[in-house]
Amino acid sequence: MVSRVVAEEAPGWPAADVPKTFYIETFGCQMNVHDSEKVRGLLEARGYSQVPSPEKAGMLLYNTCSIRDKAEQKVFSRLAGLKRRSSGKTIGVLGCAAQHNGEAIFKQAPHVDFVCGSASYNALPTILDRVESGESGVTGLHLDTNETFDTPRIERDRPYSAFITIIEGCDKNCAYCVVPFTRGPERSRESGAVMAEARDLAGRGYTEVTLLGQTVNSYRDPSPPGWSFARLLDEIGRLPRIRRVRFTTSHPGDFSADIVSAIDGNPSLCDWVHLPVQSGSNSVLRAMRRTYSRDQYLRRVAMLKAAGRTIELSTDIIVGFPGETERDFEETLSLLDEVEYASVYSFKYSPRKGTSAAEMPQVPEQEKGRRLRELQERQRRIQLRRNAALIGREEEALVERRNRKYGQWVGRTSQNRVLNFTDPSALAPDRDLRGTYCQVRVTASGPNSLVGELVSAESQPAFHGLHVLN
Ligand code: SAH
Ligand code: SF4
Ligand code: F3S
Repeated sequence: MVSRVVAEEAPGWPAADVPKTFYIETFGCQMNVHDSEKVRGLLEARGYSQVPSPEKAGMLLYNTCSIRDKAEQKVFSRLAGLKRRSSGKTIGVLGCAAQHNGEAIFKQAPHVDFVCGSASYNALPTILDRVESGESGVTGLHLDTNETFDTPRIERDRPYSAFITIIEGCDKNCAYCVVPFTRGPERSRESGAVMAEARDLAGRGYTEVTLLGQTVNSYRDPSPPGWSFARLLDEIGRLPRIRRVRFTTSHPGDFSADIVSAIDGNPSLCDWVHLPVQSGSNSVLRAMRRTYSRDQYLRRVAMLKAAGRTIELSTDIIVGFPGETERDFEETLSLLDEVEYASVYSFKYSPRKGTSAAEMPQVPEQEKGRRLRELQERQRRIQLRRNAALIGREEEALVERRNRKYGQWVGRTSQNRVLNFTDPSALAPDRDLRGTYCQVRVTASGPNSLVGELVSAESQPAFHGLHVLN
């Protein structure tokens, strides 16, 4: 029997008029994006269906991020905004801010019915049983789990490119970071389960997979074949129909030479590695407890640059970590010049409750802002120059979407650059290019993307048993 979620009329929003509907909004990293796909699979297996806006949904879910204060504030302001409008709807807070704040969320937002952390999603069916029977204040906050969140059904957002979780949690102890508290201890999935998922995806038309984990390269197969991360990468890259394999995020401390050899020897492994450095200064790296020095990091970079293929690098940087001096900051700037990253995600240090760095003497906010602007400007110039050097080249792009406003297709190169392109000779006038691999001539560039013209497009991919692209 399909039960009906009845919502009272509330100012602005009508009652939910479809049985068992949910809306989910996702904040944070790719791991959260993929967790939402797992939650969607779980809910659809229970007879729920997803709706694209909160107005008509019977259940509102927020899959939250806690990495910086701003990320968390966004969640709380979203919840505050729901107070009046959501009467009669079930509200659930999932993910890292749920784990990090726990039952305190009910105090701040009493209209929330349940909170569930990302290490407790296996408990979601039980939680939903209780919520559906009218209980509120329900929690799923256990962190002491050896389980991985292997669900029988995942409903992915895109039909050609898929995330696969290979390792969950984090055992590193970086002085600034909440992730070990929000996602629990590190645990790898068995290689057989990962391979089965990859094979199934390939059979259903997926050609690109991204292996996910907070320290993805710390992967250790817990089952008898005992595969290394490099072996797992290589095996996935050899599966028929898989054309692109990516992985994120790598920890420099565990980045071994066999990963570079695997990329070098297998063209399906993308020539792009995200390798967060956080700082170019040894004393800051030590205070952050990053487990590597500037030199050790640069040796990993040299290893990647010595590969037969050009492997592009991107990174994460925190400015204004407690105790960071002007000189430390300059060492980070010089590291940018030395590595010449294809892209950099940079952040002002944000003190997080429960982490040791939050207790240290802080760099003034204004100073953090200045350093961030300076760093971003330095990197912008590097990207401008490096992207301009690609003009005239032919690149292969996997098309992700259409930008109607500019009449362009938007794709990504193997090196993870965004490539916007037009079809000047109307090679494929009525064709939906999403999910196809296109050869594109680069004609212009900016700091964050390339512009090009279509040279040739492959024939339409076949997606089996999947929803229409949206
Ligand atoms: N596991 C990955 C990154 C996880 S979080 C790694 O070890 O590299 C993504 C990025 O957010 C981090 O790389 C870091 O640059 C940034 N970050 C994490 N905690 C932060 C904090 N308290 N303040 C500012 N940035 C932070
Ligand atoms: Fe956080 Fe460090 Fe773990 Fe990355 S490695 S998730 S920065 S504790
Ligand atoms: Fe945020 Fe949690 Fe990811 S804190 S960055 S959503 S692991």
